[in-house]
Amino acid sequence: MSTDPYILAQEAAKALKSATGLESFDVALVMGSGWVPAADAIGQTLSEIPVTELPGFAPPAVAGHAGRVRVTRTEAGRHALIFLGRTHLYEGRGVDPVVHGVRTAVAAGARTIVLTNAAGGLRPEHQNIGDPVLISDHINLTGANPITGATFIDLTEVYSKRLRALVREIDPSIGEGVYVAFRGPTYETPAEIRMLRTLGGDLVGMSTVLEAVAAREAGAEVLGLSLVTNPGAGLVGEPLNHEEVLEVGRATATRMGVLLAKVVDRL
Ligand code: HPA
Repeated sequence: MSTDPYILAQEAAKALKSATGLESFDVALVMGSGWVPAADAIGQTLSEIPVTELPGFAPPAVAGHAGRVRVTRTEAGRHALIFLGRTHLYEGRGVDPVVHGVRTAVAAGARTIVLTNAAGGLRPEHQNIGDPVLISDHINLTGANPITGATFIDLTEVYSKRLRALVREIDPSIGEGVYVAFRGPTYETPAEIRMLRTLGGDLVGMSTVLEAVAAREAGAEVLGLSLVTNPGAGLVGEPLNHEEVLEVGRATATRMGVLLAKVVDRL
């Protein structure tokens, strides 16, 4: 196994192709907290393996993150690579394992990366529990970056305008917002939530931004979708918990899966 993260991703892509018997994939989706139950509605499962069978993947550390990768065929015959769970920065393994799935997917041929997550809603219009929200842009407050060295990547349009328009054609009721990522694993304080609202944040979570940057570096088009599972800390006075996040995911699984299936078939 290589110690170079880019070569390691190529090794993982090779192993993925031989494990699944497929030469390329049309799209990759990363299913975050609350999104794993939606995967079943995307299409027919062709194969599924634990990510730990591929070079460079860390075992899952979070309940609700299955740590498996599935190949699904959609109704229109597209091949989607679906990561059921992800590695987070707060697991303490560094940045490379966080973006390894995305780099592997692009190395395996995926030109579109769909990143999903659970998020706290910061604006009144984004506090409807169970609503999906398109990520229009992000603010990276993780203090990390997947790129090392003088590689200057343009981030003017991290989340593809074309893909956002396509999702809105499918479901015009979906709103858009700026996603702010903290490292976690603590949820935010009410003072931090007030700060984020002042900074122009609409959604808050602990993932996605590093993967989006790695995908852009690799030249892929990115679609980001948040599932609002709670109002940001302090906005309604209720404490936050991970079980509530998973429960919202279970309750909205079919709606989110059908939405993703339509998106994948129209890419
Ligand atoms: N903050 C951070 N991460 C989250 C939240 C939140 O309010 N909800 C779901 N994931």
